Amino acid sequence: MRMYDLIMKKRNGGKLTKDEIYFMINGYTQGKVPDYQMSAMMMAIYFVGMDEEETLHLTMAMAQSGDMLDLSAIEGIKVDKHSTGGVGDKTSLTLTPMVAACGVKIAKMSGRGLGHTGGTIDKLESFAGFSTEISTDQFIKNVNEIGISIMGQTKDLAPADKKLYALRDVTATVDNMSLIASSIMSKKLAAGADAIVLDVKAGSGAFMKQEADAFALAEEMLRIGKNAGRNMMAVVSDMDQPLGNAVGNALEVKEAIATLKGEGPEDFTKLCKALGSCMLVLGGVAKDEKEAESLIEQVIKNGKALDKLAEFIKAQGGDKEMVYHPELLPKANMIAEVKAEAEGYIQKIVCDEVGICSLILGGGRETKESVIDLSVGIILEKKVGDYVKPGDVLAYIHYNDEEKKDVCKKRLQEAYVIGDLTAEKKNVILGMLK
Ligand code: URA
Repeated sequence: MRMYDLIMKKRNGGKLTKDEIYFMINGYTQGKVPDYQMSAMMMAIYFVGMDEEETLHLTMAMAQSGDMLDLSAIEGIKVDKHSTGGVGDKTSLTLTPMVAACGVKIAKMSGRGLGHTGGTIDKLESFAGFSTEISTDQFIKNVNEIGISIMGQTKDLAPADKKLYALRDVTATVDNMSLIASSIMSKKLAAGADAIVLDVKAGSGAFMKQEADAFALAEEMLRIGKNAGRNMMAVVSDMDQPLGNAVGNALEVKEAIATLKGEGPEDFTKLCKALGSCMLVLGGVAKDEKEAESLIEQVIKNGKALDKLAEFIKAQGGDKEMVYHPELLPKANMIAEVKAEAEGYIQKIVCDEVGICSLILGGGRETKESVIDLSVGIILEKKVGDYVKPGDVLAYIHYNDEEKKDVCKKRLQEAYVIGDLTAEKKNVILGMLK
């Protein structure tokens, strides 16, 4: 088999066979297929597309390019969750203890962030001493004993995807449905859960700007997961404005804790309950979403969800007192107000701008080597649909550097679009797919 012939076949509209896809992915992982040939192939796929069968083979070939985690030593159904990401997305922090408190086993691999704020691991490191660098044995032991563990993604999880994603990133071939779906699902399948719940975001702060594209991506990933023998559900959710009010690592942790106590923002709480319900249904502890939601409400009310977070933090070396006393979490030295300059309804909050402001303050990584300032970020006081008068506070900036704060203040003021028309408060849940 020659890579040249495969590129030609795809370029001319052909369908790649399973053997051809495995040849290409294995060859690329082992360094036998060079970047320039793989780039040409990615561009051919970008224009010609892949059908359902090809997409499944591509996903499986990438999943099998490294370790496939064996979670069979964990009793019961293991449920994982994946979010396509966005600004203020701290769902994993709230969702995983909430669901574990209801009796579903959470064995999750998470990553660090490159961009706006940190990833789940960075955020969790707001708890002094907490570590996700644990062995697979410890990971499995924790899940069996307390029902929840999160570990860092091992180097050998879907290495083909890691290499290919880096290549796509610099060759303008990221935004193809089959390529995105196979990339995400290869990592999820390799991580070993029996069931997967997807949170696919739509809107200005998401990968998928259009709602229809987000639904199509969700459907594609559901199909792949089901074809690979996993139980799947998906929620398509709004990312036209940041999720919840907090953007920034420790600030997001505080909001996640408040939500576990039933004191979180409405949109974020609603999304956590929706995703959590799917996880409880797939995990076999509730017969439908309605029953699942009432179980979730119980663990919020009786404090078990918060206790589960504390147990999880302690089991991985963290200071569990910070769960009960969030004022002990990292705190910025100064807080500045961002005020409205006009009267009217908030029409829009340019989502990416809020994320970039958090990055500028030091809350995200510009490069892999950047050190994150866990304490900084933004608290949105007003969201889309709220009515404001000049001088009303739109947002608070938590900062440690005056110059950075000044830049962010200006950008945040511009990110808020205020107008005369009444703006509708959008439902955070755009749809649910099974
Ligand atoms: N996230 C991934 O992991 N892969 C993609 O291709 C896009 C988003």
